[in-house]
Amino acid sequence: MSHTELLLLLLFLHLLVPFMVNSRQQWPVPYRRFERRPAVDSYCKALYPFCPTGDRDGRIPVMKDSDVISVYRLQTPVWEFKYGDLLGKLHIMHDAVGFSSSATGTNFTMEWYELFQLGNCTFPHIRPDVYPPFWCNQGAACFFRGIDDLHWSQNGTLEKISEITGTQFNDLAHWVQSDNETGIYYETWTVQSDPTPNATTWFESYDCSQFVHRTYRKLVQLGAKLSSQSQTNYTKIYLYSGEPTFLGNDSTIFGQPALKNLADDIRKFYHPFRPHQSFLDLALSLLEAYKKVMVDKSFYLYYNFEYWHLPMKPPYIKIIYEEVALP
Ligand SMILES: *[C@@H]1O[C@H](CO)[C@@H](O)[C@H](O)[C@H]1NC(C)=O
Ligand SMILES: *[C@@H]1O[C@H](CO)[C@@H](O)[C@H](O)[C@H]1NC(C)=O
Ligand SMILES: *[C@@H]1O[C@H](CO)[C@@H](O)[C@H](O)[C@H]1NC(C)=O
Ligand SMILES: *[C@@H]1O[C@H](CO)[C@@H](O)[C@H](O)[C@H]1NC(C)=O
Ligand SMILES: *[C@@H]1O[C@H](CO)[C@@H](O)[C@H](O)[C@H]1NC(C)=O
Ligand SMILES: *[C@@H]1O[C@H](CO)[C@@H](O)[C@H](O)[C@H]1NC(C)=O
Ligand SMILES: *[C@@H]1O[C@H](CO)[C@@H](O)[C@H](O)[C@H]1NC(C)=O
Repeated sequence: MSHTELLLLLLFLHLLVPFMVNSRQQWPVPYRRFERRPAVDSYCKALYPFCPTGDRDGRIPVMKDSDVISVYRLQTPVWEFKYGDLLGKLHIMHDAVGFSSSATGTNFTMEWYELFQLGNCTFPHIRPDVYPPFWCNQGAACFFRGIDDLHWSQNGTLEKISEITGTQFNDLAHWVQSDNETGIYYETWTVQSDPTPNATTWFESYDCSQFVHRTYRKLVQLGAKLSSQSQTNYTKIYLYSGEPTFLGNDSTIFGQPALKNLADDIRKFYHPFRPHQSFLDLALSLLEAYKKVMVDKSFYLYYNFEYWHLPMKPPYIKIIYEEVALP
């Protein structure tokens, strides 16, 4: 579709949407919760098994009420083994929470990550036989026995930030299971109006660090006190755009002949970005995306299983390692 046609369509949708939504759009768009996690489509095949040492049914052991459980903040550069500390320099970090029971001496790691890796959560598959772009974008919580001290502490962080009771731990365990059942998909991007502190956030990411923040907030709500000796920074991948326009979901966009131009444009947009297996490939794709959005100033965001159009603006894309204080 030509730029004029696209502009006209967007203008049309822009005028129409307020009537369809029938209330002012809420920013950031709330992340959609589901009744329960659906089964994964068999097209999506994990290269690395998800949560290999966790309990199959996500069960979490019950602690004695009187137990005292240490809570650890865990952070390490992503895939540091493969690419040395390059990703550490870029501050692409993975976050998790550790627990250690003083009654039994056992310890546990709790994290939230992609079932099919970051590339599959960031870009869809463009399949010749399936019209809408196909996403393998589920993410989930993994709880398993053990804390790999060396892995977290050597090039990252392993820091005790709290002590909680067994009762508080058991309450947290219930919360994690329901959070895991209702928050089912990973979102890489945070979308903001600009890089200033007063920016409007259009969309929040939903990733490993957001899970850690939710866990900390829940702990505080359960009465825990958290404190850290060092600055607590997290990785965020930003897109910068003007006010987004709602476009629709798979059936509204890809099921209506009238929207064929838009449907084709979305397919075309995602075509160069195959979900990759290695992080290096993904980094190259991000670079490609950067060039593309700089030229076209346009991005199709998939959020809550629906598409939005983002009128992109400088600085377009940024990876920032920034402080998020403990609650
Ligand atoms: C991404 O999804 C595709 C399609 O299911 C799959 O073949 C590939 O292994 C996935 N990539 C990773 C790294 O899991
Ligand atoms: C979260 O859901 C995934 C996918 O169904 C499952 O494998 C995992 O065990 C669950 N984790 C927890 C802590 O409930
Ligand atoms: C966790 O347990 C392992 C094995 O018992 C131990 O080597 C490690 O130091 C413990 N880590 C923490 C942070 O408690
Ligand atoms: C830490 O980084 C060094 C240098 O990049 C690397 O050789 C080492 O394997 C890393 N250690 C861990 C536990 O990741
Ligand atoms: C942010 O907003 C506050 C309150 O509206 C204002 O006082 C402040 O100057 C703004 N800061 C920037 C950097 O725009
Ligand atoms: C897609 O959107 C339409 C219109 O809002 C809605 O009726 C339909 O249920 C949605 N489909 C899915 C799969 O959510
Ligand atoms: C952590 O974040 C703060 C503020 O967001 C920033 O000034 C600082 O440079 C960051 N630290 C590192 C190591 O990047």
